[in-house]
Amino acid sequence: MTFEELKPHVVEIFENKSNLLKLNDCLLQVCELLEANVPHYNWVGFYFKNGDKDELKLNAYVGEPTDHTIIPFGKGICGQVAVSNKNFVVPDVTMQDNYIACSITVKAEIVIPIFVNGENIGQIDIDSNTPNPFTEADERFLEFVCSLVSKILS
Ligand code: SME
Repeated sequence: MTFEELKPHVVEIFENKSNLLKLNDCLLQVCELLEANVPHYNWVGFYFKNGDKDELKLNAYVGEPTDHTIIPFGKGICGQVAVSNKNFVVPDVTMQDNYIACSITVKAEIVIPIFVNGENIGQIDIDSNTPNPFTEADERFLEFVCSLVSKILS
């Protein structure tokens, strides 16, 4: 499915009233939709700031289970995005010093922050087993997904 074709499906997940009662189910459905329909998305998950701690906590995800359910701010690609407030596209994870490996099959990663009222409250994290797979189209699409998450959290 193309990103344009996927967008209405993501919107539908967030518009479903019964889902609105359960944010975690919504997020899981988004992970499932993306992993199943974008060939270069092999692990899809959401991390959120863990209360008032300077760390991220894994919420919904699809893919191999990871030991990294808590990531301190500044550590790894995810922890860096928690402090930079910027998209982080990694075409080749072996080129990153500050990287937390979850699986040896992962070649590339993209992390897009989620903002609520200007505050960076979490992120979507995607791992790919394909080298250098991400383009600006991924960034724009994932920003769209993050804006929908932000809307239901505002
Ligand atoms: N690789 C991430 C850790 C999370 S996993 O990809 C699921 C990082 O460096 O922050």
